[in-house]
Amino acid sequence: MTALTQDYKMVDLIAKKRDGGKLSAAELRFWLAGMLNGDIPDYQTAAMLMAIYFQGLDDEETCLLTEEIVRSGEVLDLSRLPGCKADKHSTGGVGDKTTLVAIPLAAACGLTVVKMSGRSLGKTGGTADKLESVSGFRLALSPEDLQRQAEEDRLVLITQSRNLTPADKRLYALRDLTATVDSLPLIAASVMSKKLAAGAEVIVLDVKFGSGAFMADAASAVRLAELMVRIGTAAGRRVSAVISSMQAPLGRAVGNAVEVWEAAEVLRGRGAADVTKLSLVLTAEMLYLGGVAVSRRAGLAQAAAALNDGRGLDKLLNLLRAQGGDTAALETGAILSAPVVRQVYAPQSGWLAALDAEAVATLVQNLGAGRLRVEDEIDHSVGVWLQKQVGDELTSGEPLAIIYANSEDKAEQAAAAFAACCQITAERLNLPPLIHGAVTAEGFIPWADLAPLYGLKA
Ligand code: URA
Repeated sequence: MTALTQDYKMVDLIAKKRDGGKLSAAELRFWLAGMLNGDIPDYQTAAMLMAIYFQGLDDEETCLLTEEIVRSGEVLDLSRLPGCKADKHSTGGVGDKTTLVAIPLAAACGLTVVKMSGRSLGKTGGTADKLESVSGFRLALSPEDLQRQAEEDRLVLITQSRNLTPADKRLYALRDLTATVDSLPLIAASVMSKKLAAGAEVIVLDVKFGSGAFMADAASAVRLAELMVRIGTAAGRRVSAVISSMQAPLGRAVGNAVEVWEAAEVLRGRGAADVTKLSLVLTAEMLYLGGVAVSRRAGLAQAAAALNDGRGLDKLLNLLRAQGGDTAALETGAILSAPVVRQVYAPQSGWLAALDAEAVATLVQNLGAGRLRVEDEIDHSVGVWLQKQVGDELTSGEPLAIIYANSEDKAEQAAAAFAACCQITAERLNLPPLIHGAVTAEGFIPWADLAPLYGLKA
C-alpha cells in the first residue's frame, strides 16, 4: 500500500461519517491501511461500517473505497495475454452454473477469459467447488502455466490464492459479524474491487434477485447493478449487468457434480431452456462488450453457433484436461456417482407454479453440498436433479426430481423437504420472465426492449 501522506484520528473519521459527512480518498486509505496493519482496532472499523450502513456512501466515495480496496493488495496483470480479456461474475444463486457454460463459449468465440473462482461459503458450492467434482482438476497454476494456457486455449480458471484485495477479506469478515453486509455501497465496492483486481477489460455481471439470491427484488438488484456498472465504468472497464430471477433454481441441477454434468449437457445442446438462454445472453454480452461481436444480436448468434457445433463443449473439456482433470466421467455420466439415488414423484396433477430456490438450496446443503466454514469438506456427489421445472405441467405419480444422497436417511429427509418446496396449482399461472433487463453504461434496458436486441422474443 502506498505511504500515507496525511494522518487522521480514526474517531474523527467515524464521527464525520456518523454525521453524514463525505470521506476523501486519503481518509479511506488511512482507515484501510490502519485496519490491515493493526493500528486501527476492529471495534473502530466496526463502528465505521455501521456509520456507512446508516449514512451510505455517495457514488464518488463508493468508487474511491473500491479503488482503495484494490490498492490494498496485488492486481493481476493480464496485459501480456492475447486478445480482449473478459470476465463474468454472478452475485450468486441456486443451480447457477452459467459460468461453466458462458466462459467456454466466450473463449471459443475469441475472448480470453482468466476466471478467478473461490471456494464458496454458502448453501451450495462456488464454481471452484463444482469443478473439483472432476477428478484431478486443480486450480493452482504457476504464472508460467497460466500464461501458456491463456495463449493456447484462451481459458484459465484459477483460485483466489494470491494476495488480491486483502482489505475486502477483512472488511467482509467484520461486516458478517456486525450485521452490516446488507449495504449497497459496501456490497458494490466488495464485488467490484475483486473484479477490478482480477484485471479484465470487460466485466459482465449477473445480478440476481429472488428467494435464492442476495437481493430480494428486481428493483434492488437494478440499484446494485447500477452502482457496480458505474464503479467499473469509472475505473475504465467495459461493464454491464444482466438482472435475472432466482426465485426458482436455475436449470435442472443443484449441487456440485450434477451442476457440472448439466453444464456439459447445455454445451451438448441438451440444456433446459432457462439456463441455456441466460448463458447465451451472458456470453453475447461479453462478446459485444469485448468487440468480438458487432451487436448483441450478432453476439448471441456467435455464442449459439459455438454451442451448436460443439466448440463450447470442446473448450470446457480442454480446460478441465489442461488443469489435470480426467473428463471420462463427465463424458459417460459416471460423474453422477452418489451412493443413494431416490426418485421423487408428483403428488398430484396440475402445474408446478413455484419451487422455492432458498428451500431447495437448504435441502441440498443438508445433503452435504455446501459448507458453513472455509475448512468444511463438501460432498461433491450429492444434489438434486429437477425433472420438472416451474411452469411445467404435472401428472400425479410422474417423476418430479431425483435426489442424489450419501445415505438412505438423508435421501429420505431430502425427499420430504423437496415435496414442501413445490407449489402445485390446478391452473396454469403467468410466470414473470427469467431476465428482468440489463444495466449498461447507458442505463437500464427492460427485458421487453432488451430481448429484441439479442434477436429473442420478450
Ligand atoms: N459478495 C461479495 O463478494 N461481497 C459482498 O459484500 C456481498 C456478496
